[in-house]
Amino acid sequence: ANYRRGFLTSASQAPDIAFAFDIDGVLLRSSKPIPGASDALRTLQERGIPFILLTNGGGKHETERVAEISEKLNIPLDPSVIIQSHSPFAELVNGAFGQEALENKCILVAGGDGDRCREVAERYGFKSVVTPGDIFTAYPGIWPFSKNFKDYYKSFARPLPRPIDPNDPSGSLKIDAMFVFNDPRDWGLDAQVIIDALLSSQGIMGTLSDKNGQSDLPNRGYQQDGQPPLYFSNPDLVWAASYHLPRLGQGGFREALEGTWAAITGGPAQGVELVKTVVGKPYALTYRFAENQLLRNRARLFSNGNLPPIKKVFMIGDNPESDIRGANSYESDHGSQWNSILVRTGVYSGGTPSYPPKVIADDVKHAVEWALKTSE
Ligand code: G3P
Ligand code: MG
Repeated sequence: ANYRRGFLTSASQAPDIAFAFDIDGVLLRSSKPIPGASDALRTLQERGIPFILLTNGGGKHETERVAEISEKLNIPLDPSVIIQSHSPFAELVNGAFGQEALENKCILVAGGDGDRCREVAERYGFKSVVTPGDIFTAYPGIWPFSKNFKDYYKSFARPLPRPIDPNDPSGSLKIDAMFVFNDPRDWGLDAQVIIDALLSSQGIMGTLSDKNGQSDLPNRGYQQDGQPPLYFSNPDLVWAASYHLPRLGQGGFREALEGTWAAITGGPAQGVELVKTVVGKPYALTYRFAENQLLRNRARLFSNGNLPPIKKVFMIGDNPESDIRGANSYESDHGSQWNSILVRTGVYSGGTPSYPPKVIADDVKHAVEWALKTSE
């Protein structure tokens, strides 16, 4: 097949392979380039082989993250090449995943530095976004222990669209959906605010669900009283940061929230689950979203003619639980075979991986070399 160097012009010459790169632990470690990462991407660009960056990270807009990676790796990258943990949430502005359009609804966005994630949500098209920091700044008593961070929150908080007034529920702040866009910096405040909304009546902050009149039921919000849906964007329990040992990720926050939720409501023992949706790797929704973006980008690369289908997509990752597991189980809608390659430069540090990759490579450069060799 023609992955030779040189310029491909017609669609018939389009390569029938593509790559998906995880970022943390594969291309970068925290924000330091991993040796060989630039060469790996440059080789593919020279051969006109399409790739996407598929990360469970986020916290800033795709255009910003891509500019940073492009600068760090000294590689020209288009914003359309990256899919972050929260990228699929943009589809919820006009309605997706069985959820009504949220463009003009009031959504809570948790996680990230300051209100960077609010900015991202607004650039996606959400028109009414509140953060736990806004709520805390307006009502410090909602979580007494964040008083030490008062100035931090004050530096970016915005006035709430409505007050929290237990004497006037219908005029109070109503949360219609909740999103964890990135790792919360203040697990306590974010968990308290999310649980308040899940226990509320109709998402009205400051109220408690009357449990649909079934007062004998344990105190629980189970979305049968209009409580807001809760979306997580990244299931990673741990991830590879600059510290030499894996660090707790957004999955750690979810586990902490679920534990608190179970203690308050009686949890599974009472048949009460924390009703939530989790996107991100390893879930098929995220892989499908990524594959569609890869195909759109490729079609733009080769504007004329009908392109041959992509036979193989090589997913290169450092975390067996997300990158390898997701690629191994993803059933492509376009008949592409997703092949997982595990590298040793991130979370995985040897031994039998919890999910078996096609191959284990020392680093991303060796991974790409192996993939190109097996595709010739
Ligand atoms: O928060 C980022 C971390 O969960 C992992 O990111 O790029 O390895 O999917 P990545
Ligand atoms: Mg990773």
